[in-house]
Amino acid sequence: MRIAILGTGVVGQTIGRRLVELGHTVTMGSRSATNEKATKWAEQVGAGASHSTFSGAATGADMVFNCTSGNVSLEALRAAGAENLAGKILVDVSNPLDFSHGMPPTLTVCNTDSIAEQIQRAFPDAKVVKTLNTMNAGVMVNPGLVPGEHDIFVSGNDASAKANVADLLRSFGWRNVIDLGDITSARGAEMILPIWLRLMGTLKTPHFNFHIARA
Ligand SMILES: NC(=O)c1ccc[n+]([C@@H]2O[C@H](COP(=O)([O-])OP(=O)(O)OC[C@H]3O[C@@H](n4cnc5c(N)ncnc54)[C@H](OP(=O)(O)O)[C@@H]3O)[C@@H](O)[C@H]2O)c1
Repeated sequence: MRIAILGTGVVGQTIGRRLVELGHTVTMGSRSATNEKATKWAEQVGAGASHSTFSGAATGADMVFNCTSGNVSLEALRAAGAENLAGKILVDVSNPLDFSHGMPPTLTVCNTDSIAEQIQRAFPDAKVVKTLNTMNAGVMVNPGLVPGEHDIFVSGNDASAKANVADLLRSFGWRNVIDLGDITSARGAEMILPIWLRLMGTLKTPHFNFHIARA
C-alpha cells in the first residue's frame, strides 16, 4: 500500500519505519517540503521511504495516518487537502493534550466530543479510524515489547475501514483488537490519556498497556 504519514515526530517516524519494514511505500508529510526531520527519516529508512508536504504526501496515498498533535491536527489535515483525503481511510493517532499550563496536560476536548469526531465532521468523505493513541509509540508497532495479553482499540463509522485497519494492526503483531463502536467512542479512547500519563509516572516506563479482562 502507499501510505502517507502526516507528522514528523516520534510517532510518525516510528509508524512510518514499521510500515516500510512491512513492505509498504511511505511518504512522510510536514508543513515544508524540506523538513529536516522528514528528510533525515527518509534517508535513514531508505528504499520505500520519502517525504513531502502534507498535501504532497496525502495526494498519492491509499491510506493516511494523522500523527500530529491533536491541537493542530485539523490545521495539518486542511493543509493535506480534503480532496486528498476523500474516500480514504484516515487513521487518527492523535491525542488532545494541552501542555501549555504545565504538567499534567489537560484535554483540549472531551466528554461530549473528541479530536477524531472533529476530524470526521471536518472531512466527511474520509473514513476516520481512531486507534493506536492509547499506548507509547514503541508499543504501537511492537506490542511484544509488553509481555502477556494486552489490547488495542479501534473506533470509527465505517466497518470495512475498521476491518482494514485491524488487519494492518495484526501485521504489527496485535492480537486483541477491540472495536469500541462508532467514531463517538473515540471520546473514551482519548480520555484514557490522563490515567495513562499517571501510570507512566508511577510505573516509570512508557512500555505498558491496558488489558481488558472479561467473564
Ligand atoms: N509520543 C507517543 O508515544 C504518543 C503515543 C500516543 C499518541 N501520541 C500522539 O501522536 C501525535 C504525534 O505525536 P508526536 O510526538 O510524534 O508529534 P508532535 O510533536 O505532537 O507533532 C508533530 C507534527 O505536528 C506538526 N505541527 C506542529 N504545529 C503545526 C501547525 N500549526 N500546523 C500543522 N502542523 C503542525 C509538525 O509539523 P512540522 O513537521 O511541519 O513541524 C509535526 O509534523 C500526538 O497527537 C500525540 O499526542 C503520541
